[in-house]
Amino acid sequence: MSSDEITRRGFLATSAAAAAAAAALSGSGSAAASGTAVDAIAVPDIFVRSAAGPILVGSQNTCKAALGLAWEKHAAGMALLDAIVLGINTVEDDPTDHSVGLGGIPNEDGVVELDASVMDGPSGLSGAVASIQNIRNPASVALRVMRYTDHCLLVGPGALRFAKDHGFKEENLLTDDAREAWLYWKATLSDKDDRFPKEVAQLSPDVKNWFGITGTVNMGGLDKAGNLYGCTSTSGLAFKIPGRVGDSPIIGAGLYVDNDAGAAGSTGRGEANIITLGSGMVVEALRRGAHPTDACKEALERVVRFTRAKHLVRADGKPDFQLKFYAVDKTGRTGSFGMFPGEQFAMCDANGPRLQDCPGLIGK
Ligand code: GLY
Repeated sequence: MSSDEITRRGFLATSAAAAAAAAALSGSGSAAASGTAVDAIAVPDIFVRSAAGPILVGSQNTCKAALGLAWEKHAAGMALLDAIVLGINTVEDDPTDHSVGLGGIPNEDGVVELDASVMDGPSGLSGAVASIQNIRNPASVALRVMRYTDHCLLVGPGALRFAKDHGFKEENLLTDDAREAWLYWKATLSDKDDRFPKEVAQLSPDVKNWFGITGTVNMGGLDKAGNLYGCTSTSGLAFKIPGRVGDSPIIGAGLYVDNDAGAAGSTGRGEANIITLGSGMVVEALRRGAHPTDACKEALERVVRFTRAKHLVRADGKPDFQLKFYAVDKTGRTGSFGMFPGEQFAMCDANGPRLQDCPGLIGK
């Protein structure tokens, strides 16, 4: 399915009108025309049109296979949002990535519950699912929500039913090593119950590293025509209370795209991001002309300002959690910033996918 086949009511008429309006404003018939006439009038000069695309930006785990696949598929003619979702699917399908899809760390009942969202710059539409179980590719379901419903977000059993209606197959997403981590977590919660944990030496390597995991996958992109797209997918917080929804499926928090300004997404502690509308804030900074690196930093500074609760701060009063933003702007500039330094983000252009250092706001 390509974006040319988007069936949502009125989209074709709206996008045709928007393209005509933007083309008139830019003085050309370029296919890179974007947004509505009203939005286009407010766009700063630096966003006139990009010759830079396609450019992709994403979380570190997109560098393994997702970015390269998305870039190649788009270069071969696939609509960029479809290519991005296809790339994200490779991370969802990877049982060794415990932050998303198959092999994701489960909730406190041992059930893998997934959240995902997509956003399409040219149409301004989004789709998302939350707390969906037994479906390994929630990003693809989110794309279907955008294209085949009038809704933005389906949750829990309704999301599962929708996915099954669209031909997605149910399966158990709890892999053996994720189950081992869950059992260990359960057995070490209290010394007053009847469970005895394994000795640490008996555990598979890394199992303890998955505790408190808030990893996620995010990818944003600027296509050859200068349009912007994004997708975020996650299994959320490890051992979460069933029904807990993080930032990934919340438009404005875990993902935001404005076709006149940029695309942004996040990984890390979702609660802190939801209350600060992080990705929306990043995109607003891009609209003012900020470099994506600075825009991500600005959103994190807001998170620091909002973080006061004792259980969220260290002895020095600074946040004790990781949160990272990733952004690409209308001109093809990319950037990322994290709460803590020492990590990386990924990007891809005609020179191929690569990792870059992600600066951090506060010392570890
Ligand atoms: N950022 C993923 C989550 O908090 O669910």
